[in-house]
Formats: sequence, C-alpha cells, structure tokens
Amino acid sequence: MLAIDTATTFDSQSAGGLLTSALRERAADQHYLKLNGLAKSFGKTQVFAEIEAEIARGEFITLLGPSGCGKSTLLRAIAGLNDVDAGQIIVDGHDITSLPPQRRGIGMVFQHYALFPNMRVAENVAFGLRMKKVRPEERERRVSEVLRLVELTDQAQRFPHQLSGGQRQRVALARALVVEPQILLLDEPLSALDARIRRHLRDQIRDIQKSLGLTTLFVTHDQEEALLLSDRIFLMHQGRILQQGNAESLYTRPVDATAAGFMGHYNLIGRELARPLLGYESDSPRVALRPEALYLQPDTSPQGQQDEYANFPTQPLPDNAGPGCPGVIRRHQLLGNIVRYEVDCQGLRLNVDVLNRSARQLLPRHLRVMLHADLDEVQALGGNETAATSQVSHG
Ligand SMILES: Nc1ncnc2c1ncn2[C@@H]1O[C@H](COP(=O)(O)OP(=O)(O)OP(=O)(O)O)[C@@H](O)[C@H]1O
Ligand SMILES: [Mg+2]
Repeated sequence: MLAIDTATTFDSQSAGGLLTSALRERAADQHYLKLNGLAKSFGKTQVFAEIEAEIARGEFITLLGPSGCGKSTLLRAIAGLNDVDAGQIIVDGHDITSLPPQRRGIGMVFQHYALFPNMRVAENVAFGLRMKKVRPEERERRVSEVLRLVELTDQAQRFPHQLSGGQRQRVALARALVVEPQILLLDEPLSALDARIRRHLRDQIRDIQKSLGLTTLFVTHDQEEALLLSDRIFLMHQGRILQQGNAESLYTRPVDATAAGFMGHYNLIGRELARPLLGYESDSPRVALRPEALYLQPDTSPQGQQDEYANFPTQPLPDNAGPGCPGVIRRHQLLGNIVRYEVDCQGLRLNVDVLNRSARQLLPRHLRVMLHADLDEVQALGGNETAATSQVSHG
C-alpha cells in the first residue's frame, strides 16, 4: 500500500519502477529458500530424491516423517554438512549448493547437544564469533544478548555438565543464533527432553523465531508438535515430500493412505466395507475417516436395550450423519482428555474418539452401540498404497 501511495506522487515511469521493485521484493520473499530437485544417495541407497520446495522468508516449516525417511540428511544437505548428488539449494536468489557450511549463513541445532564440555556456557556460545574473528567487545555484547534471549544469563559461567538437558539444548540454540543466521535448522532439538520442558522450550523456540523473523526448518516425528508449531508442514516418506501444507490441510485432507496413516490416526476403509457406515458406495477404492468424525449412539433395538448401559449420554449427531451401523465396543484407551474406543462394526474395526467427560461415562466392553459417520468428513483416497486398513482380521 505504501509503495502505491508514494508512487502516485511520481511520474508514471518511476511509479512503475517502484511498484515492480516492491512486487519483486515480495515475490522474492515468497521463495526465499528454494530446493530444486535435490537428490542424495549413500552408495546404492537412495536417501531422498525429487525434493522440491519453496519457503518464504520468516516461515516456520516442520519436516515430519517416520524414522529413516531422510529428514536429518536433508537438513544436513541444506547446512552443507552433506553434499547432494543432484539439484540446487537457492537462498535469496543465490545458489549455495557448493558453498562450504560456514559460508551459507545457516545455523543448525542437533538432536544431541553437541557442546564443548571443557568450555563454559558463554565460551561455547562465543565460539562461532571467535571463528569469524569478531572483536571481543562486540562478541561479549552479542553473547550476552543471545543468552538473555534463551534465558541463560545466570548460567553463563557454568560448564555443560552443570546444566540440565533443557538448558544444554538452549545453549546449543544460543550458539546457532549468535552468528545471526539467515536460516535456522533444528533437527529434533527437543527429543531428549521430558514432556514439560519440551513444551516450554518448544514455545520459547517459536517465540524467538517469530521475534527474529527467522526462516526455520524444524524436524520432528511428533505430529502434535508439527501441528502446533508450523506455518507449513512437509510430510516426508521414504525420501520424498508426500504432502506440503498448513496444519489444517494436512490433518483434514491427507493426499493418500500413507499421509492419512501418519496424521490424525485415520481409519482407512475399503469401498465395499464402508458402504453400511456411509449409506452409499464411494467412487474411490478407499475412504479415510478420523476417529473424531465417528459418533457413538445407544443401540435402540430391543436386543441392544437389554444392557444396563444402553442409554448412555451422547454427543448430538452432526447435520450430515450417515445411517446408524450396529457395532460392539471391543476395548478403550484413555488418552487424557480423549477416550479412544475400538468398535467392531460389520467386518470393520474402527477407532472412535469421544471426549473424556467423566470416568463414570466409560462404555464397557461388549456394549452394543450404533455408529454414525460425519459424512462431511469422509476423505476419498486412491487404492494403490500399502498402509494398513481398518478391516478386522479373522486369523
Ligand atoms: N552417512 C551415512 N551413510 C550411509 N547411510 C546413511 C548415512 N546417513 C544416513 N544414512 C541412511 O539414510 C537414511 C535416512 O537417514 P536420516 O538420518 O536422514 O533419517 P531420519 O529421517 O532423520 O530418521 P530419524 O527420525 O530416525 O532421525 C537411513 O536409511 C540411514 O540409514
Ligand atoms: Mg534424524
């Protein structure tokens, strides 16, 4: 807007020039970091291939995927710690593919805090600046500034063995931040920490990243962490980026059965078996339904009504609910605020999530129920992937 307002006071030619340069800058920000057809093998083993991505300046991207899918190798390739066999890494229009790590302007934090044990916290953090021959006063100023940012000012004179795991990982973060990188790479920085510290440090990382406007790639195999933190998630599988998108699209619109199997604990159901639950035959070979898109209701048949729990309290059905399909509770798992029931329903075994309101409302094994699907939440999938389906095995 500013560019347009100012431009009106110039003649048309320079106004055009201003506009184009503003637009060009904004466009450049949209693909600040570009990965063009990256591929990498170790010997005969291909680790990743055809990696294509455009990342905006200041964006927080999470690489999510199962163990061994190539997340760390991709991060190390961007940092310059691994070479690549094909493709380019472009940062702000510059091809950095063959630059050495120290000339890439990239900071990296590893899964295991790689601190120098014989150096105090402040010295650990100052190390990168020393390498860059930054003057001592400037060095001191930047170290104390970054220690304040990660809340470690009081620990500056300690050695790594005198710190907790969370504190050590914050030193590693400070060490990456102090050299003022253009891009920050975080390879499972939280995985060695307990749940409470993990949550705290996770929020701290996101706050720091936002306040500095740092373009960040964060690796995790924890889907909850990915959903919470990211502007966008790249779901990786066997060395490919299977799906890119924001949390909402990955969670509610998986591209295939593998993506659905990884996010949201989807029930994957073949077309034939899904028919009684949906009340129609899907055009696709398979459908996916999240556990919270299934609803349990009492079985109102005379047989179902014989049970003492027959009239348990229920959630109202969604507007577009499928016909009731009779089922039987097999068992449940308590997941904190959610109870996940396993329900057998006409040859299917389905996960159904219900809000855990009270222990008194837990439904017992063998209870007969009616199961309804929210038809607005049915995801149509192709049929050629190998992920597990929800069919009951009769072995
Ligand atoms: N230096 C290496 N030499 C040979 N093979 C390697 C090397 N580094 C990684 N690999 C292989 O590359 C594949 C991907 O490894 P990578 O460490 O990138 O996986 P990841 O997605 O980070 O897994 P995790 O979640 O367990 O950390 C694995 O099969 C691994 O054995
Ligand atoms: Mg890894």
